[in-house]
Amino acid sequence: MGVLHAEALQKIPAAKLSVCCDLNENKALSFGERFHFRTVTSNPAEIFNDPKIDAVYIASTTDSHLALFRQAVKSGKHILIEKPLALSAEDADEIYQLSQQSQSIMMTAFKFRFYSMIQQAHRLIPDPFMASVHIIDDPWPPDFWANQPNKGGGNVISQGVHGTDLLRYLIGSEPELVYGVANNYHQPTGVIDNLAATFRFKNGSAGNLMVGDCGTAPLVSKFMVQLTGKQGTITLVDRLTDLYFKPMFEKEIIRFRGEEDGIFQENKIFIDAISGNESHYPKIWDGYVAQAMIEKAIRSSKERQAIQILDCHKHPN
Ligand SMILES: NC(=O)c1ccc[n+]([C@@H]2O[C@H](COP(=O)([O-])OP(=O)(O)OC[C@H]3O[C@@H](n4cnc5c(N)ncnc54)[C@H](O)[C@@H]3O)[C@@H](O)[C@H]2O)c1
Repeated sequence: MGVLHAEALQKIPAAKLSVCCDLNENKALSFGERFHFRTVTSNPAEIFNDPKIDAVYIASTTDSHLALFRQAVKSGKHILIEKPLALSAEDADEIYQLSQQSQSIMMTAFKFRFYSMIQQAHRLIPDPFMASVHIIDDPWPPDFWANQPNKGGGNVISQGVHGTDLLRYLIGSEPELVYGVANNYHQPTGVIDNLAATFRFKNGSAGNLMVGDCGTAPLVSKFMVQLTGKQGTITLVDRLTDLYFKPMFEKEIIRFRGEEDGIFQENKIFIDAISGNESHYPKIWDGYVAQAMIEKAIRSSKERQAIQILDCHKHPN
């Protein structure tokens, strides 16, 4: 993700790449050389202690996010942090609480919100009754770090937050209750590898999520979104680039095409926000809620009952 963010930032005149860090020195060196960073290090403190740096990106393996976020908040810098915020909702909550101690701009990297066809879907049906998000990969290799319980948490924790954030963003309401069915169906690492869940939102809308690595389905691709509202119905396929809209009571289907342009847009919006321009971007709170939704869906499956998602007293928003 460091490479993808650096590629995006290179195209944004207001951003200048300055210091890069990776614990793996060889990776740091090749990354630094490729993007012409002035300083290359394997010690994150060099970034946090550098007064010339305005903003830091936390795009390391998920197990390292909380410790790096703590240091980043202390440094007073603006922060973009990759999803999922942490390995558990408890750690994501700590990240949210830390974020409340600073006035800096802090963004959770939910790139899908910025895809042009997600924006189009949101414009066409701004208040859907029902939304369905599907993120299904081919099986992840067992030696992939994100598939380790203590490093990435597995597919559902790692990718599921993109799905829960999309549901919440498209429906435009806070999630209330979830009923989930989740399991370790096939991964030798023992992680929860697949989840199906239904969320009830405060405005009464329903959101369905299917996430996992049981094998990408023909026709729909890894990512699919469906929305139904009073304006009609949308199906968005081909990695969220191909949108079909059937207006209510009409037979004609209108097709829109877009690009996988979320990473560039999220970087542009982050830099805009730092530069003092008004912009809407996913906050750390959004990262926390997305993670709580996944964790509660998994708990619901274990307890075989619907579970309440947010503790409103703890998180007045
Ligand atoms: N937004 C998205 O669509 C998306 C997609 C993939 C991954 N991600 C997220 O991005 C993050 C990185 O994933 P990736 O696929 O780029 O992984 P990666 O393995 O390609 O890179 C992660 C790097 O972090 C380094 N690292 C680990 N701990 C560190 C620390 N304490 N300080 C400095 N460097 C450290 C590792 O050496 C490694 O080179 C993860 O949180 C992942 O969930 C997001």
